[in-house]
Amino acid sequence: MKKLFIKTYGCQMNAYDSARMADLLAPLGFEGADTPEGADMVILNTCHIREKAVDKVYSELGRLALMKRAKPDMLVAVAGCVAQAESEEMVRRAPVVDMLVGPQSYHRLPEMIARHARDHGHQLQTDFPALEKFDHLPEAVSNTGVSAFLTVQEGCDKFCTFCVVPYTRGPEHSRSPEAVIAEAKALASRGAREIILLGQNVNAYRGGDACDWNLARLIEAVAAIPEISRVRYTTSHPRDMDDDLIAAHGNIEKLMPFLHLPVQSGSDKILEAMNRQHRAEDYLCLIDRLRSARPDIAFSSDFIIGFPGESDADFEATMALVRQVKFAQCFSFKYSPRPGTPAAAARKTVPDKVKTERLLALQALLLEQQDQANLAAIGKTLPVLFEKLGREPGQLVGRTPYLQPVHVYGPKQLLGEVCNVTLEALTANSLHGRLTQTPENVLA
Ligand code: 5AD
Ligand code: SF4
Repeated sequence: MKKLFIKTYGCQMNAYDSARMADLLAPLGFEGADTPEGADMVILNTCHIREKAVDKVYSELGRLALMKRAKPDMLVAVAGCVAQAESEEMVRRAPVVDMLVGPQSYHRLPEMIARHARDHGHQLQTDFPALEKFDHLPEAVSNTGVSAFLTVQEGCDKFCTFCVVPYTRGPEHSRSPEAVIAEAKALASRGAREIILLGQNVNAYRGGDACDWNLARLIEAVAAIPEISRVRYTTSHPRDMDDDLIAAHGNIEKLMPFLHLPVQSGSDKILEAMNRQHRAEDYLCLIDRLRSARPDIAFSSDFIIGFPGESDADFEATMALVRQVKFAQCFSFKYSPRPGTPAAAARKTVPDKVKTERLLALQALLLEQQDQANLAAIGKTLPVLFEKLGREPGQLVGRTPYLQPVHVYGPKQLLGEVCNVTLEALTANSLHGRLTQTPENVLA
C-alpha cells in the first residue's frame, strides 16, 4: 500500500472534499497516513478565504520541499481554493508542487497521477466542470463517523464584495435530490446518525430537473431516513431563508434547533458596501420569525471587523445587533483584502490597530454570550447524540441539539444513540452531565 497524507484547511466543505479524495485514491492503492513524513503522496486541501489561511499553505509547502529532498518521488498536490485562485503563480512560488487541482476538478486526480508518472511535468486542473464532478466520484466510504457531512450545493452567486468564494468555487450548483438522498442512505448504513447538509449557500439549494426542490424539502427527505436522528445544514445566507425553511424549523423534529446564519455586520452602510443585499433590521426580523417557529432555536454567526469605511458608529451597530440577538457561538475575523475582490480596491481602509481593538471588544461580548448559553444549560435535561469515546476510560463525548459538546460516563454501546443527559457542570467549552435515560434496545 502507498501512504497518502491529506491536510485540510478551512471550511467543512474542504473536510468533505478531503474525505472524497481519499475515497477516490483508495482504489489506486493509497491508504491514509497521519503525518507527511514518509508519505508517497501529500495533498494540501487549501483555503483562500483570508490571507492568513494562504500564508499557512506556503509555509507548509516550505516544510514539504525539505522532506522531498529526502524522498524525491513523494508527490505533492495542492487542492482547494488556493490552487484555484493562484494556479501558475503557485507553481512559480513553490516549485515543490507537482499538481494543482481546483475544488471542482479533483475527480481528475487519478488521471493526473498517471500522467505525472509518465512525463513528470506539472499538472494543472482548475476548470469548473461542476456538473461532472459528483458523477465521477465513488460512493463516500471513508466517512464512518456518527456525524457526517454531505455536500448538496456548491459555489455562490452572491458576490459579497469581500469574498473569494464566487471566484474559487464558481457559480451556484445544486446536486440532484436523488443523489443526495442516496448518499445520505449510504452514510446511514455505515453508521451515520447525524447528517450535516453542506453548501457555500446551502439554502439556495434548488435541486431536481424542474428545480422544484428547495432545502426544506430536501431536509424533510433526509429526515425521513429511519436511522438518521439529526439533520443540520450550513452555511446559509439570510436572503435565502425562505418561508418553507423557516416553517421546517417548527415542523421537522429531526432538524436541530441551531442555525449558523452569518450577518457579518450590524451597520446598514457596511452591509450595503459588502453587497449583502439586506439590512440589519431584515436580519433581526428573520431571527424573530425563526424564534416564533422554534422558540428554543440557538444562533451562531460570522462577523467581519474593520471592513473598509467601518466607523466607530458602524462598529457600535454591530455590537448592538449582537446584544439584541444573543448568539450561542460565533466566529469573528479581521477584514482581510482578497486579490480580485471589489473591496480589495477600497481606499478607506481601517488601521490594523483599530481592527484589533474592535475585534477584541466584539469577541469579549460574544464569549460572554456563549458562556451564558452554556451556563443556562446547567440543570437542564437534554437529548445528547454520542459521537465518540472521551479521553478518560468510560467517558463518551456527544452533543446537545445546540451543538454544545457534552462529556458523560456511560457504556460505549451508546455511540450513535441519542440519550437524555442531565447537565451538571461547565469546564472550558465543554459541559459535563449524567445519563438520565438510555434506550432499552442498547442496554437490554
Ligand atoms: N476577510 C475576513 N473575513 C472573511 N470572510 C470571508 N471573506 C473574508 C475576508 N476577505 C469570513 C466571513 C465568512 C467566513 C466564512 O469568512 O465572515 O462568513
Ligand atoms: Fe462569500 Fe457572500 Fe457567497 Fe458567502 S454569500 S460565499 S460570503 S460571496
